[in-house]
Amino acid sequence: MKTILRKMGDWLEDRTGLMAAIRPILNHLVPPGAKWAYVFGSATLFCFILQVVTGVGLALLYQPSSDAAYQSLQFITDQAVFGRVLRGIHFFGASGMVLFVGVHMIRVYIMAAYKYPREMNWLTGVLLLFLTIIMGFTGQLLRWDANGVWSSVVAAQNLGRIPLIGTTLARLLLGGDTIGGQSLSRFFAYHVFLFPALIFALVGLHLFLVIRNGISEPPKAGRPVDPKTYRAWYETMLKREGVPFWPNAAWRDALFGSLVILTIVGLAVVVGPPALTQPPDPSIVDTSPEPDWYMLPIFALFALVPPKTESYLIFFGPVLLVLALFALPFLSNRGERSPIRRPWAVFGVICVVIFVGALLVIGEIEPWSPRFDTKSVATLVSYQNPQLKRGAMLFYKKGCQYCHMVHGEGGLRGPNLSDIGRNWTANQLTVQIVNGGGNMPAYGGSLDKDELRDIVAFLSAQK
Ligand code: HEC
Repeated sequence: MKTILRKMGDWLEDRTGLMAAIRPILNHLVPPGAKWAYVFGSATLFCFILQVVTGVGLALLYQPSSDAAYQSLQFITDQAVFGRVLRGIHFFGASGMVLFVGVHMIRVYIMAAYKYPREMNWLTGVLLLFLTIIMGFTGQLLRWDANGVWSSVVAAQNLGRIPLIGTTLARLLLGGDTIGGQSLSRFFAYHVFLFPALIFALVGLHLFLVIRNGISEPPKAGRPVDPKTYRAWYETMLKREGVPFWPNAAWRDALFGSLVILTIVGLAVVVGPPALTQPPDPSIVDTSPEPDWYMLPIFALFALVPPKTESYLIFFGPVLLVLALFALPFLSNRGERSPIRRPWAVFGVICVVIFVGALLVIGEIEPWSPRFDTKSVATLVSYQNPQLKRGAMLFYKKGCQYCHMVHGEGGLRGPNLSDIGRNWTANQLTVQIVNGGGNMPAYGGSLDKDELRDIVAFLSAQK
């Protein structure tokens, strides 16, 4: 028996050479002392693999069409075997990926591991950070409940405000001028084909660079990086005191990764996936959703900045952030790596963490972020006039009520419209709705003439 297995193994190795290719990777020397701080990159990778596996499982059952998506998610959650757990793992896996990508990045920054010769490791890592956020966003849209549809409306309208290329970008995102079935096909293709393919390619490159340039040794105060001598010094150091990657360093990755996966599965079983909010339809009104937690800081930031600067922030914010992150390893690719010698870097990280954390808390208690759990006024008041009734339903269905209060129901992000009909003429109302302005999205593209007239009639009646 043993000899047969051995023979099969030998045959495989002779024809493929896989072990010969993998062994040097497992045995390659890494600096000693690469301890627990180094596990977060591989933890992110474990989460990503979990996302691929559960994502394929979900795609087997999900129907990316606007009239079937919501029902297929309900089916996955309530009826499919292990469907609830599958969705739960995919959700907590996404949360884990966002979390660990952040922690990994902070670790690399604090230890200045982006300095020579690892600039490209950092750049590919920054791209992976943004791809991870984009995956979180597109994934949330695929739920195609009120929340998902609303988020895509806001995203498209915000993109549309970018000078010159905005409209084109918004059309590219939605696959047309308005949201509909074609938009959902797009989000599906982005989330399942385009961005995962980019992530695979970049993860491959990132890992190749990690092996080629070597893991950064733990920094020591008074041992600066000098590009002229660093590589030679690193080689000698490895020969003298390096340890084989497997098992001396990799066991921590394996242990921590397993704990992460167990925790995610545990949360999926005990807590379960986030509840679906109402389908994009005004007749069902009894849930309390909000954007997923990792999107909250972004929502809160946009809600808090003064309205006049928001358009600029939407455009320049991400651009400046990308430029700053890209520039970092080129602005400082040598010198001290130890955090003790770089107090301002540590201080900066603490500020960023507090800032993002505060936005998260604010987004959680929100008076500003849209309130998705509001009830339609059409269910509270029984309108005799069919136009007012249609207007009331549209006011809810088009998301106005997430931001505006009428009859004591609705969000606080925009002004209370309970007596708007007293001072505003129908014309003024139309202009405001079509053009938006301040922190309000422009609705010109997403309401047809009749819908606009009904909403204006409804608002004019609020006295
Ligand atoms: C993202 C949140 C949001 C959504 C969604 C939204 N609005 Fe607004 N709306 C605002 C904000 C913020 C203002 C204040 C704008 C300003 O400061 O100029 C506003 C202002 C208005 C005003 C002027 C009121 C005043 O006193 O200044 C009207 C009328 C209005 N919105 C109607 C609507 C209608 C109708 C819809 C749906 C088609 C809608 N809004 C959707 C946030 C929103």
